[in-house]
Amino acid sequence: MNKLKKEPLFKVKDLVIDLYTEQVSVRAVDSVNLEVNAGEILAVVGESGSGKTVMTLGPLGLLPEGVSVDIRGQSQCSGQDLLNKPARELAKLRGENFGIIFQDPISALNPMKKVGPQLASQAVRLRGVSKQQGKEIAIELLQRTGIPDPEDRYNRYPHEMSGGMLQRVMIALALVGNPKILIADEPITALDATVQAQILELLKDIQCRENIAIILITHDISVVAQMADQVAVLYAGRIAEYGTMEDVLTRPVHPYTKGLLSSVPDLRSKRGENASGPAGITGSPPDQSSLLPGCRFVERCPVAQTFCSKFRPPLEVLPHLSQRHFVACPVAVESTIEQMEGEAYEQ
Ligand SMILES: Nc1ncnc2c1ncn2[C@@H]1O[C@H](COP(=O)(O)OP(=O)(O)OP(=O)(O)O)[C@@H](O)[C@H]1O
Ligand SMILES: [Mg+2]
Repeated sequence: MNKLKKEPLFKVKDLVIDLYTEQVSVRAVDSVNLEVNAGEILAVVGESGSGKTVMTLGPLGLLPEGVSVDIRGQSQCSGQDLLNKPARELAKLRGENFGIIFQDPISALNPMKKVGPQLASQAVRLRGVSKQQGKEIAIELLQRTGIPDPEDRYNRYPHEMSGGMLQRVMIALALVGNPKILIADEPITALDATVQAQILELLKDIQCRENIAIILITHDISVVAQMADQVAVLYAGRIAEYGTMEDVLTRPVHPYTKGLLSSVPDLRSKRGENASGPAGITGSPPDQSSLLPGCRFVERCPVAQTFCSKFRPPLEVLPHLSQRHFVACPVAVESTIEQMEGEAYEQ
């Protein structure tokens, strides 16, 4: 019998995003394919400038101001096309489907207005409710995001709240429209360790309780290990490795992923590696305004061969592992397959 594949809640296909300023043109996202299902956490991980924010917010029409954008490919949410939509229609689709916790949370709140009324007016706008209902929704959201004494906090200004409380308000703001997908762009970077753990717990709780999908953007591998179902490792605008959290973190194949993981002592010791040995990746990412045709990691890659700088590495599925582990490095894929065949032969 033919099993129909369930359509993902959100997907991008062959997504290319070019940014142009007066000074430079940058290919920020280069033929990316991704899928997110309901109730799933997809972590997008990569160094600063790898395209995490542009890739995630670009299809929603939320790109930096003062930049011209050329965006191509496909992007769909619940089967509806997001690209090539008039701005008003896209804003409506965005409001109905997505909640966004921005990388710079303070800029999303008006410092001159109390937090509660800001939430309430969003509720009026997105849910079409009365002002009184908007206030009730705001207080309920403050409670739902773990803010003690929500009636009192409703009347506080942003500067009267701690960083952790403010981030809970940001999460409440992202939940106002009853989104199917929450995009959390580096949601804990500015917080101290204890508060970080509480915010992650809150996000996990929202995902489990409300079956909301979360796209979690982070450069912190330990956050990925703790939170993600799926992981996309981004390097210079391209997917280097993509798969389940278990496959990518415990059986990494791409040399870039291995490099990222080698800087996390806990994961290294779990894989039986010497946690005190050399770690990390040397060098820095390429200048995305003048890219060569081949693999973008080539200059930093410990296994690079001459052909790597000439041809773009295809994102190949690893046949021996789960059918959802993709790697864009033919050299690493071949040696992994050889190693696995060797192990199978020995058994
Ligand atoms: N306003 C802008 N003007 C010009 N180029 C930009 C602008 N914003 C982003 N870019 C470029 O787009 C690429 C992707 O940037 P993006 O902000 O998505 O990276 P990121 O992975 O989110 O980084 P970070 O971890 O620092 O947030 C980078 O090469 C960056 O230089
Ligand atoms: Mg970013």
